[in-house]
Amino acid sequence: MEAPMTKTIVNSWNEWDPLKHVIVGRADDCHIPPEEPALDAKVPEDSDMRGQWGRRPQETIDRANELLDNFASMLEKRGVRVDRPTPIDHSLPATTPDFHTESQFGCMPPRDVLLTVGSEMLEATMSYRCRWFEYLNYRPLMQQYFNEDPNFRHESAPKPRLTDADYHPDYLSEKIGEAKRLEWAAKKFFVTTEEEPLFDAADVLRFGRDLVVQHGFTTNLKGIEWLRRHFPDHRVHTVNFPGDPYPIHIDATFTPLRPGLILNNPHRRLPEEQRKMYNDNGWEIVDAAGPAHNSPPPLCYSSTWLSMNVLVLDPKTVCVEKSEVYQAEQMDKLGMEVVEVDLRDAYAFGGGLHCCTADVYREGVCEDYFP
Ligand code: ARG
Repeated sequence: MEAPMTKTIVNSWNEWDPLKHVIVGRADDCHIPPEEPALDAKVPEDSDMRGQWGRRPQETIDRANELLDNFASMLEKRGVRVDRPTPIDHSLPATTPDFHTESQFGCMPPRDVLLTVGSEMLEATMSYRCRWFEYLNYRPLMQQYFNEDPNFRHESAPKPRLTDADYHPDYLSEKIGEAKRLEWAAKKFFVTTEEEPLFDAADVLRFGRDLVVQHGFTTNLKGIEWLRRHFPDHRVHTVNFPGDPYPIHIDATFTPLRPGLILNNPHRRLPEEQRKMYNDNGWEIVDAAGPAHNSPPPLCYSSTWLSMNVLVLDPKTVCVEKSEVYQAEQMDKLGMEVVEVDLRDAYAFGGGLHCCTADVYREGVCEDYFP
């Protein structure tokens, strides 16, 4: 057993270099928030979550925490330092001069809120009202890193106003139907408007000098433009996955495993015209194996494709959810050592193994993979 790093250094440039320090979320006090425009557009039409809100049942919170704690201790045993957020009271309403919603969301998953690029951790604008204050769960850690690492850059993107002008009312009907949703997604017509920059951190993938950002429900073009101006030394690429009727958060859709290899959700293939940089540089984009389940667990926002929401520990080692046997088998064939992690009962809290973590330190420097 390797001793986890004690010195605090914030540094992570991609999704695969050896992971040494990470944040793992907590399920404490997680809520199903009341209706609001962006969230409603995302809750699947046949979901058991429609029309209800409030604190999640305590036994599901306890079970999710048990799994997250086990995941954290497994990582620690492998020499990864693990930090945890300090939950705020998520039952409190979120109120600003521009909006009011009766409750918040939780401190899962951290990947949605925090984007680490080199020595910087950037708090995303977020796009749901119930998640506007979510960064507060991570502020104690940000303060600690700021005190301990003289090079740490703590940044926060401009807080959006999230008035009704941020959302297209067309998306707010109960039953839009999948065909209509796919047609709109193909036209890049999403629930969020271009009123102001919006992005969730989980729409961004880091490939050294290149940032790949999904344009969809939670990230608009202005948000991507904001990221472009904020990271002037990076190339920022906009991607779309037209096969996804609920396009939020890129990490159950497009999953880089190591330099040269990316898994792509076969129902949400990257369009041909967006593949050039990968093709030109000899990167392979392979279809991910199918999920082992036909439906998500109860009260879950995500699809069954959390199967491909894996956490890469280093370019040869990957954490895969224990029940996702097809995904594990594919990893094995791709030459990766698979670490099985039981997490399915925590999926309802916002996602899988990649979602429920946020990078603090991965070895390595900023490389140019697409010269
Ligand atoms: N949109 C994805 C799906 O349902 C889920 C992505 C979850 N990712 C996250 N970072 N919360 O397939």
